[in-house]
Amino acid sequence: RNSALRKIKDALSSACDFYHQYLRRDTERAVEARTYLLERGFSDSLIDQFQIGYAPLGSSELVNYLLSKGFSSDVILESGLGVASKYGTGLFDMFRDRIMVPLQDHEGQVIAFGGRVFPYKSNEQKSTFGPKYLNSSETRVFKKSEILFGAQYLLQQKEKPEHVVIVEGYFDVLTMNQAGIWYATASLGTALSLRQIEIASKLSKTKKVILNFDNDIAGHTAACRAADHLLEAASRRGIELYIALLPEGVKDADEFIRLYSASDYIERVLNNAIPLVEWRAQMALQDYDGSVESKTRCIETLGNIFSKIGSASYRSQLAHYFAERITENVDDPHRIVSTEDQILR
Ligand code: CTP
Ligand code: MN
Ligand code: MN
Ligand code: MN
Ligand code: MN
Repeated sequence: RNSALRKIKDALSSACDFYHQYLRRDTERAVEARTYLLERGFSDSLIDQFQIGYAPLGSSELVNYLLSKGFSSDVILESGLGVASKYGTGLFDMFRDRIMVPLQDHEGQVIAFGGRVFPYKSNEQKSTFGPKYLNSSETRVFKKSEILFGAQYLLQQKEKPEHVVIVEGYFDVLTMNQAGIWYATASLGTALSLRQIEIASKLSKTKKVILNFDNDIAGHTAACRAADHLLEAASRRGIELYIALLPEGVKDADEFIRLYSASDYIERVLNNAIPLVEWRAQMALQDYDGSVESKTRCIETLGNIFSKIGSASYRSQLAHYFAERITENVDDPHRIVSTEDQILR
């Protein structure tokens, strides 16, 4: 069993080398891939640090390479690098004509890949194929919810950072690293898991984790979900969850840094991060329109959110603050206290 796993991991490592070396070749698309990376501001040393590569256009170039290295069809299939053709017995490359980002576990072992399409330069009417991002499907060595992209690079540093940032995409992490923000990790999309938060908190000096998801509905929904599902377990583990918000119109960390700078990102985004629980409560408050029904709803939601806070004094402090905001007649302190009691039940 273990030797089967070993072979799968070896195949993934070989594929990583193959893709990385292919990026340096002089085929038309490999050159265009380099141009794309250059235009996004990524240096050769960043490309080396993250072992970024290019998966060629042909239907089974990687598969043939791996077969020639002695890997069996089963291993190639199980690693997620090859897919069985519908007819006959051949294997096709899973990733074709994409910029490849290897995903590593905490030991630095490649366990999966993310591949991104990139535009044609030479032939602009030609369109790319498939979704913008394609990730390896889950395999025996790759469980998406257990991986935090970039964590392995943080482990290699001499010192732990004050806090770790979690963003959505690996390209955000690349841009942040290129700009000197080395304590960035990515959750690979928006479904954040407790495991990923735990990994992040262990990498930081203070167990402080700052979420900075995309500034869109998917990103906000993910942050709400994280608040509703992970806050309690996080606080029990002493993990402090914060959320950093991007200004209106700026989509993600990558775009912010491109538009402004890394120091602006630190000053205006990270340094203004607020506790996730407070942000979640503010979101609940947006539903309040002054009506009795919306007040009842708000009390219910706020009660649920605050019930996840470990510290009783912090809990009542927040309940008081938000009670003030949903009490009609704030000149009557008894009413505020009564709302506060309802929130805390
Ligand atoms: N993702 C995915 N499949 C998709 C879209 C996204 O797996 N079809 C995951 C990828 O892990 C990606 C992350 O979600 O890194 C964030 O997606 P998105 O915000 O679309 O990526 P960006 O990094 O902003 O893309 P771009 O390269 O255009 O900046
Ligand atoms: Mn190299
Ligand atoms: Mn997104
Ligand atoms: Mn994004
Ligand atoms: Mn982006």
